[in-house]
Amino acid sequence: MTDSSFSKIAILDFGSQYTQVIARRVRECQVYSQIVRHDATADEIKALGANGLIFSGGPASVYAKDAPQLDPAIFELGIPILGICYGMQLMGHHLSGKVEHSERREYGSGQLHVAVPECKLFHGLGEMLDIWNSHGDKLTKLPRGFRTVATTDNSEFAAIEHPKKRFYGLQFHPEVAHTPRGKELIQNFVYEICGCKMDWTMGSFIEQTCSEIQAQVGEDHVVLGLSGGVDSSVAAALLHKAIGNQLTCVFVNNGLLRANEAETVQRVFGDNFHMKLKYVDATTQFLSKLKGITDPERKRKIIGNQFVRVFEEATKALTTKTKGKSKFKFLAQGTLYPDVIESVAIGGNPAALIKSHHNVGGLPKNMKFKLVEPLRQLFKDEVRLVGAQLGLPPEIVQRQPFPGPGLAVRILGEITRERLRVLREADTIVVSEMKAAGWYYKVWQSFAVLLPVRSVGVMGDERTYENTVALRIVESQDGMTADWVRLPYEILARISTRIINEVKGVNRVCYDISSKPPATIEWE
Ligand code: XMP
Repeated sequence: MTDSSFSKIAILDFGSQYTQVIARRVRECQVYSQIVRHDATADEIKALGANGLIFSGGPASVYAKDAPQLDPAIFELGIPILGICYGMQLMGHHLSGKVEHSERREYGSGQLHVAVPECKLFHGLGEMLDIWNSHGDKLTKLPRGFRTVATTDNSEFAAIEHPKKRFYGLQFHPEVAHTPRGKELIQNFVYEICGCKMDWTMGSFIEQTCSEIQAQVGEDHVVLGLSGGVDSSVAAALLHKAIGNQLTCVFVNNGLLRANEAETVQRVFGDNFHMKLKYVDATTQFLSKLKGITDPERKRKIIGNQFVRVFEEATKALTTKTKGKSKFKFLAQGTLYPDVIESVAIGGNPAALIKSHHNVGGLPKNMKFKLVEPLRQLFKDEVRLVGAQLGLPPEIVQRQPFPGPGLAVRILGEITRERLRVLREADTIVVSEMKAAGWYYKVWQSFAVLLPVRSVGVMGDERTYENTVALRIVESQDGMTADWVRLPYEILARISTRIINEVKGVNRVCYDISSKPPATIEWE
């Protein structure tokens, strides 16, 4: 897909943990941003047609043996550049400045004194700014043609500029929330210095993506595996808008869904949107394959393989039914931007190295489909905005992540219909109480886990020997790290009381107070 009609900022990634944050800040300015590897050539950058470049920070030192480098011809492209932290040091290093290891590592908040308020980057920001630093090395000699525009107590080159070339360097991090007016700095760069237009709106995205989908698909047919999650749902709505009946969604009920999930998906997509929706109830098939299995990896494998089989059968059946006329040439997927960014893992950026084990349920390469991935350019929050704009209800657009293998990863031990019933009922209570208390949309995930543990209890005059349910309620930005939510006791009490009173087979509820790492979010 092309995106040439939008203004654009390209971000060269030198391995900073904040690279995606920079990309999001630019998009919050309604300007499209794209992350590229630090070693992209000047020709590649030129071909992108970016209005400006941002060099991210990074954990390396410019003199280190394996320091990520850039193509110096980039400085000849004639487009504005903003170097942040390592990005600034690298710019200084290439353009005849000097970078040295600083005795005092500067970390945390600081104050910036703006010496040249007429510098476009600081336009309207006053003379004193709170900023956030995180660097060991620092620039000690200005590169030729540059001047200092701001200082800190520890650095006389905290912000520098080459006004003619429109090159700027910041020693601190404007992209993080701890630099409260950093967003305005980024706005100044993208609007005033790079001349970008505010054309990256979800409305313009939808319009452009629809024409791209139409161009890509032509008269052919597209099949999409609808899971009910945000990504596949929004992809479905977008494709439906673009190609209407040329889209068929296949919704596989694997028997491991939450209560009412199958009905909700059919109501929203079939009844409301009038999409061609093939509902396949494969509950028996999945559950019989899972019978007696307790090992989490085996469960995942079985579910993944089974899904592929059912999906293939369903598409084959659909094709035969229409006498081959709707032979699907394309497979649509709700792949998002963070899945396609090629992560640069340099030194201390472990987040980039943690590869998820999650996509076991993907479709095999030998399925002869061409891919349509209309959400490839979007961050999750943008996907939600697109979904809302396309008319999807909040119960779909704002829902919490739900794992592909479903409740299987939340039932420890064997998966049976009875244990699914127990977990579904407990889960329904968690969701409804979290919603009623106004907490559901504030947290990353809130769910129940059924443990393979029974314990003694007493109900009325009777002794019980029943199941334990654990509550997992976490906050997180991206699922990579997470912390347990300090939920008010009253809400915990209500959830616990309701589960124990209403769910037959449960006599004990525990609250999981582990963070990730070292624990994970799901228990498996
Ligand atoms: P963990 O348990 O690894 O989970 O801390 C991190 C996030 O990923 C979700 N998750 C999955 N999502 N398919 C998915 O689409 C999966 O197999 C899967 N397993 C875990 C989990 O819910 C959490 O948000």
